[in-house]
Amino acid sequence: MTRLGILLSGRGSNFLAIAHAIHDGRLPDVEIAVVLSNFADAPGLAAARDLGLPAIAVPANGRKRAEHDAEFIAHLLEHQVDLVCLAGYMRLISPAFVRAFPQRILNIHPSLLPAFPGLDAQGQALDYGVAISGCTVHFVDEQLDHGAIILQRSVPVLADDTPETLSARILEQEHLAYAEGIARVLSGRYIFEGRRYRPKHAD
Ligand code: GAR
Repeated sequence: MTRLGILLSGRGSNFLAIAHAIHDGRLPDVEIAVVLSNFADAPGLAAARDLGLPAIAVPANGRKRAEHDAEFIAHLLEHQVDLVCLAGYMRLISPAFVRAFPQRILNIHPSLLPAFPGLDAQGQALDYGVAISGCTVHFVDEQLDHGAIILQRSVPVLADDTPETLSARILEQEHLAYAEGIARVLSGRYIFEGRRYRPKHAD
């Protein structure tokens, strides 16, 4: 059984999409071991409790990032987490956190990286005037929204899109992409050539 640790800061719809994928059998032999948040009142934490999952708040409260992250790492180790999934976790993680789970931290971002990293990716895409945006599932490295890409899904930008309408259509794709990305990683049937993901075919 692969044990996931989820980190979120808000609504938690990507976390719930992962939970549904497990429930549907799209992620066999996977379970959510713990859900962690930097905000005690994150709706995603309440949703985790409703599902009977361990849900723990670790508020930052002005603490240094390394000290805050050490507490996250301790909870993840205590819950024997194999793979960490950032699901709307809106805080940079420290290099020590990345090193504690080498090639074992995933993130989802609402743009086609490397375009529009950081906050409000959907608003950035609209302001830039792109015709196509989307979402990216990627490994987390020590730079913001930068690690090797596992998969992307594209979403056309419509003439009358607002940040809200574009975000909603991208979010639908995020919910499919995250489970698919986790399944790819857990299959182990891939190699990276530099940053390039390559599926490994069975001989
Ligand atoms: C999602 O759109 C996710 O891609 C984004 O925050 C939203 C969280 O929604 N994450 C980032 O922008 C990270 N850079 P959710 O709480 O409903 O999953």
